[in-house]
Amino acid sequence: MSLSPERYGVIGNPIAHSKSPDIHAEFARQTAQHMVYERILAPVNAFAASVHGLIGQGFKGANVTVPFKLDAHALATSLTERAQAAGAVNTLKFDGDRIIGDNTDGVGLVTDIVVNAGIALRGRRVLLLGAGGAARGVILPILAESPERLVIANRTVSKAEELVAQFAAKGRVSASNFGALHEPFDVVINATSASLSADLPPVAAEVFGADSLAYDMMYGKEPTVFMQFASRHGASTRDGLGMLVEQAAESFMLWRGVRPATASVFAALRSRL
Ligand code: ATR
Repeated sequence: MSLSPERYGVIGNPIAHSKSPDIHAEFARQTAQHMVYERILAPVNAFAASVHGLIGQGFKGANVTVPFKLDAHALATSLTERAQAAGAVNTLKFDGDRIIGDNTDGVGLVTDIVVNAGIALRGRRVLLLGAGGAARGVILPILAESPERLVIANRTVSKAEELVAQFAAKGRVSASNFGALHEPFDVVINATSASLSADLPPVAAEVFGADSLAYDMMYGKEPTVFMQFASRHGASTRDGLGMLVEQAAESFMLWRGVRPATASVFAALRSRL
């Protein structure tokens, strides 16, 4: 073990609100890893210089958040398949001259649904609302679970159709507009940014049945408007706090080769919201 702890951090702008340092500090304590994890504010036009500065200081890796996930994708010298598919990078690993780019958001979502909520996606009908960066980042890991089908619905249907063209070889995936959806789905995932402005994506109540899970990738102290709507129509609901913790666990695993337990970290974060 080196005398000084190995350094990691999360790069964003703004960054003061990030919960990642708390999450990784708890993972490190729990797994007895000799490391520290810091918040790093990078100027919006100087992401690459900031990363090279971290490498110069001996950092081993970093998480990447808004607005730098596309810059990180461009900067990486090699990309995992899931980062290529996502078109965005949320995890960097520094290895000599190499900058490895990964994306753990999708697997974080799938772990939260399949393991934590206990709802298998295999053979299920899955509806993904939205076709922006957040949606694109989760498609490959969802299809890897072999759902019966994945429907991507977006206000601008052409963007959903572009994603379908990109992922058609990976599973049964189709595009739709919101208005054409009237049958129930087993899992409905809100990947639109509508919840940020307390808006509801214009999805019909019939997509929710008594056995449906409505998952919002956003989280907050109160249920989002999407969760409230789904709940009124009989679905069970879950917000994206578990996805946040699970994507962190996957990054931690990539860096340290140890998988931390997530339940206590999730409970602590929930109690502090
Ligand atoms: P992100 O990185 O969060 O995905 P984005 O790439 O800007 O952000 O994508 C935002 C997504 O939310 C898009 O799918 C957008 O729909 P359009 O492509 O039609 O713009 C969707 N979105 C945002 N506000 C919405 C709203 N009020 N109702 C429905 N969809 C909304």
